[in-house]
Amino acid sequence: MLITIPDLLNAEQTRQCRQALESAAWTDGRQTAGHVATHLKTNRQLALDDPIGLRIGELLAQTLRRHPVFQSAALPARILPPRFNRYEGGEHYGFHIDNALFRAPGAEAPASGLLRTDISTTVFFSDPDEYEGGELIIQDTYGEQRVKLPAGHAVVYPGSSLHRVTPVTRGVRYGSFFWTQSLVRDDGRRTLLLQQDVAIQRLIQVGADPEIVAQLTGVYHNLLRMWSEP
Ligand code: NI
Repeated sequence: MLITIPDLLNAEQTRQCRQALESAAWTDGRQTAGHVATHLKTNRQLALDDPIGLRIGELLAQTLRRHPVFQSAALPARILPPRFNRYEGGEHYGFHIDNALFRAPGAEAPASGLLRTDISTTVFFSDPDEYEGGELIIQDTYGEQRVKLPAGHAVVYPGSSLHRVTPVTRGVRYGSFFWTQSLVRDDGRRTLLLQQDVAIQRLIQVGADPEIVAQLTGVYHNLLRMWSEP
């Protein structure tokens, strides 16, 4: 399932984040690409302990915790701190699938500190007319999705999907992305739960019989009980 979240950040938050990112200390993205992806990835990124990245990361974390669409679609168990990237002058990131497991920051224990990357989220910090290229291309079951959203908007997609960022041939593309471990690891199951949740919310809006709403809500929770791994 691929969903977009318009206005994850409001205009003022987006403007402040963007201003901070423009003055941040960008480093060569190849340093963290791993030996397989080094030739694929030519962008720049912020160090994981960069103060600007940490500050925006905290804002994103707060926003996501109370965002109904993200909560309903992702069913987040744990979220890794966001990373930040910048593409310009032909920089790109070729087709790849992200690593399945990442160590959460500060984690000491070998197994418990690992987080499974069930879901990827990209947040845009440049508007589409500010740069040429720089589309996020995601292969999903229905073919290739080309994503280029206004600043402050986000796209949420399965961590298992093949994806790339096309070369930025004019202007600068600022973005952020982060991985989420979901309570429900299977994308198909998460999609069914989201569809059911959306349908229940609609029934409530149109004033449906509360007894039917309660029955369907019960089914939702029983499926979540069956499928979730807290
Ligand atoms: Ni990736």
